[in-house]
Amino acid sequence: MPQTLVPQGLTTGHAPFVEEARDRGELYISQVYELYSKENHEVWRQLYQRIRPRWERYANDHFLRGIQALNLPSDRIPRLSEINLKLQPLTGFQAKAVSGYVPGFLFFDCLRRREFPTTITIRPADKMDYLPEPDIFHDTAGHVPMHTERAFADTLVRFGDCAHTAVEMTAHLRDPKERARRLTNIIRAMSRFFWFTVEFGLMRGPHGTCAYGSGLLSSYGELEHAIESDEVGRYPLQIEWVINQGAEIDHYQPLLFIVDSFEHLFDLVDQLERWMRAGKLNNVAPGLPEIPERDLRSFMDAAESV
Ligand SMILES: [Fe+2]
Repeated sequence: MPQTLVPQGLTTGHAPFVEEARDRGELYISQVYELYSKENHEVWRQLYQRIRPRWERYANDHFLRGIQALNLPSDRIPRLSEINLKLQPLTGFQAKAVSGYVPGFLFFDCLRRREFPTTITIRPADKMDYLPEPDIFHDTAGHVPMHTERAFADTLVRFGDCAHTAVEMTAHLRDPKERARRLTNIIRAMSRFFWFTVEFGLMRGPHGTCAYGSGLLSSYGELEHAIESDEVGRYPLQIEWVINQGAEIDHYQPLLFIVDSFEHLFDLVDQLERWMRAGKLNNVAPGLPEIPERDLRSFMDAAESV
């Protein structure tokens, strides 16, 4: 009898369980924990062990407290259900397993509901240093510990509000071309702001500048580079600069922005929403990031259903 091969492992790019769900159009999935291979857990263990001393040196205090509060395991991939039991009583946030990319409006709408779309696959062992797409290490060791902090969690919800305001501000436009043009500008502004804060943000700390952005906190190499290197420009965050600044990917960020506190960050997102209402995000500088059709479509669909 031919042997049935049971696909094992939830490795990024080699996870039939996730890929098949995506092909069926299922965005929200469950984390079938038994599917992780020994190698998957070993990759987590090595990533965690390697970066831990750098967190202690360069991460903001809230992040380190978040790691403790969630009791994030160091030697195996965490179960999202275990994380959520600890996280939800703190800020109402939950990590929610997804099969892949969540189009822009749906992503921000999740944040508004205090749900964080979370990748469940983990990078292959030969790509420990860099993976262009998020994996469970980036999402649960980089993002989720920050969600234990009240003001930061509220800031994410405010980003979600911004997406709804974008829809509200464009739903009345009769010309679909003009609606698409404005939404493209607004999405670009929001994406840049999100990139330079939630993904790559720096904060003034009691012992100097520290990191709170998840792209930094999940990267062994870039975390140190962001704080120590002379090749990085670090400036106080100004909205007009950030929304017009191209966000580069695939290499270490040459330019980073600093906030004073999470209350300060919340106020900045609040101000971003007021700028949107005043039409100040309708014409931002062209350039990166490109806005994928599926992101624009998600906002257009939401505007059409208003
Ligand atoms: Fe991220």
